[in-house]
Amino acid sequence: MASTLPSVPDTDPSTCVFDAFRTAIAKRVSEALPLTLEQAYSGVDYGKKGVDFTIALPRFRLPGKVDELANKVISKFEPDEWVESVVHDKAFLHFQLNSQSLVRKVLDQVHALSHLTPSGLPEYGTNTSGKGKTAIIEYSSPNIAKSFHVGHLRSTIIGAFLANLYKSCGWNVIRMNYLGDWGTQFGLIATGFEKYGSQEELEKDAIKHLFDVYVKVNKEAEGDPNIKIEAAKWFKRMEDGEEAALVNWRVWRELSIKKYEEQYEILNVHFDVYNGESMVGKEWQDKALARLDEMGLISDVDGAKLVDLEKWKLGKAVLRKKDGTSIYLTRDIGGAIERYEKYKFDKMIYVVSSQQDLHLAQFFKILELMEFPWAKNLQHINYGLVHGMSTRRGNVVFLDQIIKEAAGVMFDQMKQNEEKFNAVEDPEMVSREIGITGVKIQDMAAKRINNYTFNWDRMLSFEGDTGPYLQYAHVRIASIGRKNPELLPLPPPSQINTDSLASMSHAREIAFLLGSYPDVIKVALKTQEPSGVVTFAFRLSHAISSAWETVIVKGEKDLEKARARMFLFECARDVLAASMRLLSIRPLERM
Ligand code: ARG
Repeated sequence: MASTLPSVPDTDPSTCVFDAFRTAIAKRVSEALPLTLEQAYSGVDYGKKGVDFTIALPRFRLPGKVDELANKVISKFEPDEWVESVVHDKAFLHFQLNSQSLVRKVLDQVHALSHLTPSGLPEYGTNTSGKGKTAIIEYSSPNIAKSFHVGHLRSTIIGAFLANLYKSCGWNVIRMNYLGDWGTQFGLIATGFEKYGSQEELEKDAIKHLFDVYVKVNKEAEGDPNIKIEAAKWFKRMEDGEEAALVNWRVWRELSIKKYEEQYEILNVHFDVYNGESMVGKEWQDKALARLDEMGLISDVDGAKLVDLEKWKLGKAVLRKKDGTSIYLTRDIGGAIERYEKYKFDKMIYVVSSQQDLHLAQFFKILELMEFPWAKNLQHINYGLVHGMSTRRGNVVFLDQIIKEAAGVMFDQMKQNEEKFNAVEDPEMVSREIGITGVKIQDMAAKRINNYTFNWDRMLSFEGDTGPYLQYAHVRIASIGRKNPELLPLPPPSQINTDSLASMSHAREIAFLLGSYPDVIKVALKTQEPSGVVTFAFRLSHAISSAWETVIVKGEKDLEKARARMFLFECARDVLAASMRLLSIRPLERM
């Protein structure tokens, strides 16, 4: 008996069928207790293990004892196509969904929304909450000629995830890389390049060569103070826009970006805009200084300009050097204003290490003091440190070393099982993808702010909740179609009877997890944490693996049952792949 459900604002059963189940629960509760449908709805939470949904009665602050309230709901309760049962447990009401509807409706929805959207993610799980809004997400942002350290790697990984996440929620996303391509160190490199530079080396690997030059000239500068003076003069000429001082620098920048782009591609990370500190105009940097001066916050120390933010417990900071050249902080202020002028963003996110908390707080505060109404839409997404990052060859300074090491360690490990190794079609590609997945999962498995220690062995093991395990889980489920070709293609869902799945607890559990995926994305947007998505991917992998022995496809004689199971696994594979793609991981088909 189908009953139509009332609609609750900000829910969308057509993309998240759990919204409908929650509405069905809320409807009963609002009919039994003096609550509006919306109030009741807001109290419907996921249950603990073994319970579908739970309501904590005290949260409604209703008059009367909890037991009486619970009895009111229970005495009126009759099972229907949505909700099967309710039990009272202390302050809680636990609801179980009708298993047949759960399986049917979830699988139908996953299937109906399985096509890929332009962002490369399937529609299932996505929502349109950000429709019409623009977000700039700035991430990676390495410094040309300095090392690409793990801090940049974290920014790259977390930023790529956030960009996918915002897109999944309907935002128009501008993925921006803000290169450290300006500053006194370029005066230093220019000085050093005259002595140590080689055009040939530069073309071979610009990032490495510039780093080498930088290290050499830095060392020399330690013994010879004239070098720093030279360098500062050179940078001043650059800031003044003197063409002769800029030609080389321009080539360095271009070659470095080219090299980075290759590596980002390997990581499945993409940018819409390569911005950089060098591109920030002077105009707004000057205006910012003038405005802060008016407010009496600027002092002159030996010709340098200092802003005093003590009032907000943000210390003092130099805004302009004695020779008039800009610094990191001023460029960030000018840069934010220019980005607003250009993109009129609704939100701008900076994915930068927590080591720069003070820096970001300072320039956010300055923009607020300048009374830009959009200053409140800036957000710093920070993250903790990574310890112990070294490869078999020593300390890591370049991104390509990290990629090579991950691929190499994985390659060696795969080789140990000769039989399996020989069966892999493209072991180089496979080991690289698994290695990168290991690095990414290790990075996103815990809350961003936590520090962690880089551990090649652990992250590249197939045991435990690791990247390789996740790829393995996907490969295994992807193989099910290859192993049962006679079942494919499946008939349209309306011709598949899923009733047999409802009574199999492992199948039901998979369906429940699939149903929760749109909520996983919504929660991730709220917390801006990748860890919830990682947890989801592992829970789904575990549920699939537990189902393996009982929800059998191969060898099931009853064709109707075999098809239903195949349908379940195909849906599970789609959602597992979607969650991996959201984390910027490319799911493998074979390994
Ligand atoms: N290039 C900087 C660094 O490596 C990170 C830039 C962060 N973004 C910003 N807008 N300040 O430390």
